[in-house]
Amino acid sequence: MISPANSWLDKFPGRAREPLSRWTTLRIGGPAEVLLEPQKPEHLVDILNGLAKDNLPWRMLGGGANTLAPDGGVPGVVLHTGSMRRMFVDGPTGLRAWPGATLPALVRAAAEKGLSGLEHLIGVPGQVGGALAMNAGAADWGLWDAVQEATLWYPDGTLQAFTPEQIKPKYRNGNLRGAVLIEVLFDLKPASKQVVQAKLEELLKRKNATQPVRLWSAGCAFKNPPGDSAGRLIDACGLKNYQVGKAAISDQHANFIVNQGGATAADVRGVLEHVERMVMERFQVSLVRELVVWPEPQEPVAPDKG
Ligand code: EPU
Repeated sequence: MISPANSWLDKFPGRAREPLSRWTTLRIGGPAEVLLEPQKPEHLVDILNGLAKDNLPWRMLGGGANTLAPDGGVPGVVLHTGSMRRMFVDGPTGLRAWPGATLPALVRAAAEKGLSGLEHLIGVPGQVGGALAMNAGAADWGLWDAVQEATLWYPDGTLQAFTPEQIKPKYRNGNLRGAVLIEVLFDLKPASKQVVQAKLEELLKRKNATQPVRLWSAGCAFKNPPGDSAGRLIDACGLKNYQVGKAAISDQHANFIVNQGGATAADVRGVLEHVERMVMERFQVSLVRELVVWPEPQEPVAPDKG
């Protein structure tokens, strides 16, 4: 018998029993029962409405950044937005994007048009949908700061456009409350291409010098506590290079957990928990995770036999 999740593969492009380690920037994760790859916003809306109607479990993976996928895989449907990567110029300062537009492509498009406002995203992996769900950014700046209007899908099937003032995003929290991004309009500032390019180069140089950008990681593991830096606190506990299995704290920046090859989700959870304990003991600070940790399933999803 075809499982309810598998029946979606007759209607939309996707894969059964797909290892999520192929789709996450940490290169960790067991199989998704079904991974669907909608090609355009209308497909995404149809799929989300259908999954809600069938009461099937589903998760948005976005571009696979900032997510720890479970070793036991994910029952039901995982949605990857990588095929929905179009961007459109909209007026003199507007850039419209589908949720799968990658952040590097978005930054490049803005720079080529002589538009400023997205430079802080340079060197950040992932896609627009996940980045807005997280309010990704650098320090206090978050991607919602550049949004004019975002169209969101809600689990009751409604689609509605919102301004940032209505959504009230917070530091590294897009405040979507179960909604899914369908399309977004960014409002940027006209600037000389040379000035934007110079800023990008300067920021990238700084990131290359201070972050393990070439290793498998999910970006910063913890949010910064108010007025301080999680990296500084973890470093001050002497935890650089601390390792569980093949997951280790970067020796370059202590807020990055890197996969040295073959790390499991259990390894990463071990590192997260140890860091939380040590920072609490030493500084009485309760670190909040930025990395989104998906729970292990009750029954592991069987890998593809082929
Ligand atoms: N520091 C240490 N040891 C470390 C790391 C940092 O002592 O291992 C110290 C630095 O010397 C500096 C301070 O901590 O004095 C702050 O470090 P940094 O400038 O690297 O910034 P951060 O607060 O650690 C934030 C964002 C990054 C973003 C950078 C650059 C958060 C959690 N982190 O890092 O965002 O790239 O600023 O703008 O908001 C992310 O969110 O995934 C992320 C990587």
